[in-house]
Parts: sequence; structure tokens; C-alpha cells
Amino acid sequence: MVTIMKHEESAATKVRVPLDEEESQAVETLAAPSAEAPAQSDETVGDPFVERAKMSARHVDVFYGEKQAIFDVSLDLGEHEVLALIGPSGCGKSTFLRCLNRMNDIIPECRVEGDLRLDGEDIRTRGMDPVLLRARVGMVFQKPNPFPKSIYDNVAYGPRLHGLAANRSELDEIVATSLKRAGLWGEVKDRLHEAGTGLSGGQQQRLCIARTIAVSPEVILMDEPASALDPIATAVIEELIEELRQNYTIAIVTHSMQQAARVSQRTAYFHLGKLIEVGETDRVFTNPRHPLTENYITGRIG
Ligand SMILES: Nc1ncnc2c1ncn2[C@@H]1O[C@H](COP(=O)(O)OP(=O)(O)O)[C@@H](O)[C@H]1O
Ligand SMILES: [Mg+2]
Repeated sequence: MVTIMKHEESAATKVRVPLDEEESQAVETLAAPSAEAPAQSDETVGDPFVERAKMSARHVDVFYGEKQAIFDVSLDLGEHEVLALIGPSGCGKSTFLRCLNRMNDIIPECRVEGDLRLDGEDIRTRGMDPVLLRARVGMVFQKPNPFPKSIYDNVAYGPRLHGLAANRSELDEIVATSLKRAGLWGEVKDRLHEAGTGLSGGQQQRLCIARTIAVSPEVILMDEPASALDPIATAVIEELIEELRQNYTIAIVTHSMQQAARVSQRTAYFHLGKLIEVGETDRVFTNPRHPLTENYITGRIG
């Protein structure tokens, strides 16, 4: 039985050279699952590209000061698909996600290199306003973070900022539609002017999703959106993700492999800043081709 601990030990021992005889035997035992690693182990296993890419990353490197966090990652987000990003803590999932709407720009020592596109358009040119980009590529965070405003004003915030409504009734319409799409309307329609922070955790997260939807994004990035929620609220969010896919392209970071299996069509496995393997979710979970992917999956489920 492979455990995640063993797999992390084996990764750590790999970089320790030279080894004495006793040590190398020990490492061989520990690293046994990696023995069949393909020769091209630095290349991503599986096909990171899709026919109809909504977003594309090519040869993306990310640095925090001197420290490199993402290594040469190339990956597409397909239109109307849910792409799950999985991997051990600290492997760069959030960092990669933040490349897609330039949220890394606001981290002072963070530097991003490579090519990032939305509908074929370079998102890092001077002509691309990051505020507009973040409306097109919205983000939902791990901890629900409603503004200290009413439910209505939370959802109306973006449309007001971007001047999306000509008058109050248009704004009302956007707020109602967004709350409906986020599956929250029924629960809040009679108390739109109460504080958003007074809602339950699961409701707050759906409010944040409504706020993201209100500016008509094309892509929604979700960074562990359900990890602070109870199982019932999580199930509601997961159902919602399936519905949202009809209208949006979604990338979701999740620590739960069961969740990845339930909500996504494609899965990308990251390890130490590298994209190790990517493929159709069912295939990755039932027949992982890279030993690191297999170790991760069997270690957590088995
Ligand atoms: N703001 C930051 N400043 C410096 N290092 C960071 C920062 N954010 C993340 N890192 C580092 O980058 C690596 C990837 O982190 P992260 O993207 O948060 O991983 P994950 O989301 O997979 O847990 C880690 O080594 C982490 O310590
Ligand atoms: Mg993270």
C-alpha cells in the first residue's frame, strides 16, 4: 500500500546525492513505485491541450523572488469544461490559478514568465486592463469573503464598478439573475438588504459566486471553494459547478479527489511546481500513467 508520506519521502530523497550503499538500498525500497518512471519524467504525461481552448498557458514559469514556484507549465482550459487542479500542498496550484487572471501581479515579489491567453489574446500585454481581465476571468476563494455590505450591494458591486446597468431596474435584474444562477435566490430574495456576512458559510460562498457571475465572466477560477464548508453546503456548490459549466469555463483547485472526480471533466496533477499529468478525469483516476500521480491518488484514497 502506497501512502502519501512515503511518496513525499521518496521525492525528497531523490535530490540527495551522493548516497552510501546502505542509503541507496533504503531509497530503492522507498522509491519503488517510482521505478517505472518514464525517461521523459520532466515532460507532462497526457495531453495538456484541447481543441477549443478558452484559455491557454504555454511555458509558464513563476518566481517568488529567487524561488521558482512553477516550472514550464503548458495547459489549456477547454470551453465549457471543468478542469480540476490537484496535488500536494505547496505544489503551485493556487499560483498557477492566479496566473490566469493576473492576480499574481498584486504580489510584489512575484514574477510570471511565459505565454497566457484568453480567446487567443495575450492577457499580459499593456493593452489588457487587469481590472477588466478579472471581470472576464473571475475568482472564488477558499474562504467566503463577502463585502461588509448588503446581499444586494455585494452582487451589485461589480456591475456598478463596470457601469453594466443603465438604471435601477436593470441593476435589480442583474442582481436577481446572478443570485438565481448561484442557486441562492430562493433563500435570500426576501432579505436582499440584510448583511451578506449574516449568511451561513455555504450561502456566503454562493453569494461570492453570484458576485463573480454578476459581471458576466467567461471563466471562473475557484481555489478550494468548498474546503471551508460542511458536506451539505459542499454538495450544493458541487451541483452548482455542474450547472455553471453550461455558461462558463471553470478551473477548480481541490484537495478532495472525490470532489475532483465528481465535478470535473479533465484533471491536472501538479507536483513541486510541475504539471506531471493531465487527462480526462476518469482516466487519470482509474488509470494514472505517471507514478507520482498514482502515488498521490492511491495514497489518499487507499
Ligand atoms: N506570496 C508568496 N510569497 C512567497 N512564496 C509563495 C507565495 N505564495 C506561494 N508561495 C510558494 O509557492 C509555492 C506554491 O504555493 P501555492 O501556489 O500556494 O501552492 P498550493 O496552492 O498548491 O498549495 C510554495 O512553495 C509556496 O510556499
Ligand atoms: Mg493553494
